[in-house]
Amino acid sequence: MSVEAALWPLATHVDARGHLRVGDVDLPSLSGRYGTPLYLYDAATIREAYREYRAAIRGCGAVRISYAVKACGLIGVTRVLAVAGADASAASLGEVLAARRAGFPPAHIQLHGNAKTDEELAGALRAQVGRIVIDGADEIQTLAALVRRAKGGRQAVWLRLSPGIDVDTHASLRTATLDSKFGAPIATGDAIAQVRQIVASRELRLTGVHAHLGTQLHEVQRYGELARHLARFAHEVRDTTGVTLREIGVGGGLGVPLRQGDQTLAIGSYVGAVIGPLREDPLTARATVFLEPGRSLVSRAGVALYRVTGTKRVPGVITYVAVDGGMGDNIRPSLYGARYTAVLAERAADPAEETIAVAGKYCESGDVLIREVALPRAGRGDLLAIPGAGAYAVAMASNYNHFPRPAVVLLERGRARLIRRRESHSDLWRLEPR
Ligand SMILES: Cc1ncc(COP(=O)(O)O)c(C=O)c1O
Repeated sequence: MSVEAALWPLATHVDARGHLRVGDVDLPSLSGRYGTPLYLYDAATIREAYREYRAAIRGCGAVRISYAVKACGLIGVTRVLAVAGADASAASLGEVLAARRAGFPPAHIQLHGNAKTDEELAGALRAQVGRIVIDGADEIQTLAALVRRAKGGRQAVWLRLSPGIDVDTHASLRTATLDSKFGAPIATGDAIAQVRQIVASRELRLTGVHAHLGTQLHEVQRYGELARHLARFAHEVRDTTGVTLREIGVGGGLGVPLRQGDQTLAIGSYVGAVIGPLREDPLTARATVFLEPGRSLVSRAGVALYRVTGTKRVPGVITYVAVDGGMGDNIRPSLYGARYTAVLAERAADPAEETIAVAGKYCESGDVLIREVALPRAGRGDLLAIPGAGAYAVAMASNYNHFPRPAVVLLERGRARLIRRRESHSDLWRLEPR
């Protein structure tokens, strides 16, 4: 068995013993030291993804790369991107606070989210986030009143738009269609009505608009379409209110490969498609464009390690290889059919012998981490490694079935450092009075 380089952290290779290594770090030894399930992130791979974005925006005018913290909000991971100079795009007050702890300057943080509560909005003002993204007509008056009460200056805001663009991804990953819960629809006139309300407010300063198509996308033309919608809307804003938008947020969503042969858009093509039309229009040519990549910055850097707990063979039907984790640490396969691959981390040079399904240990039939993968014959005690596990796995982890959440380590200059300790059973009820 060989490992396909593009799926794994940089410097991943199989050593002479058949062990999977990332640079000098032997993954089986890590599992011995920290237990399983274990997630590891490789800092160099995160930095390289960020560097690719930096290279792609060269010559594109003012562009900020704003890491979507939701993909993985661990302080140890986000700090790598804060130090590299990224902005942070947060989906909640919790993510704002995590971004601040990780070192992002408050002025470089944007707060997104539909259904923001008064507490979240007030917390964001206290945290002095650079921009609050209004996503819901009710937020306008609420935020204005909070700013008035805080006696602050005017708060810079964006308006999230729903441009009515459908994309080829799982239904739960689409965010820009007319029936989406996100954004003010342009087509119905709601978006421009909300713009008028914001512009009329003495407490809010409309600096930009934003739209996010969805995630795990591969269609370059949809990004061009998005940019043209945003440029057109900038004209509508100027013609209706006299305001020239200085900032345009185009969301994230660039798809990542999870299995051998997965076709994805190159970062350069994506960036060209989403920025090009904005630069061609004189009104948006000089606006600062905010890209908000999440998964494409951290997915490849992450690997999940599991211990095989046993097998179940139903001849002619299916073979399950069961592991000591599952939907509690990675809900993506059961939530929206994400398809991963795996290797045996201590026998990575062995040839594949059979196609199996990887079953999780949670009490749900849908808890199957991988429906089909070709592996050497595996048994209890083998170590299974899943690449591309850096985005939206740990971030969505739960304590379903009262399983403690896994430990996470960061690999940096040939060493592993614990950035999240494994939960203990007593952690599970620490918030519940006896
Ligand atoms: C507003 C916004 N920006 C950026 C992202 C990041 O998307 P991705 O991780 O697919 O790049 C998301 C994800 O859903 C989002 O909702």
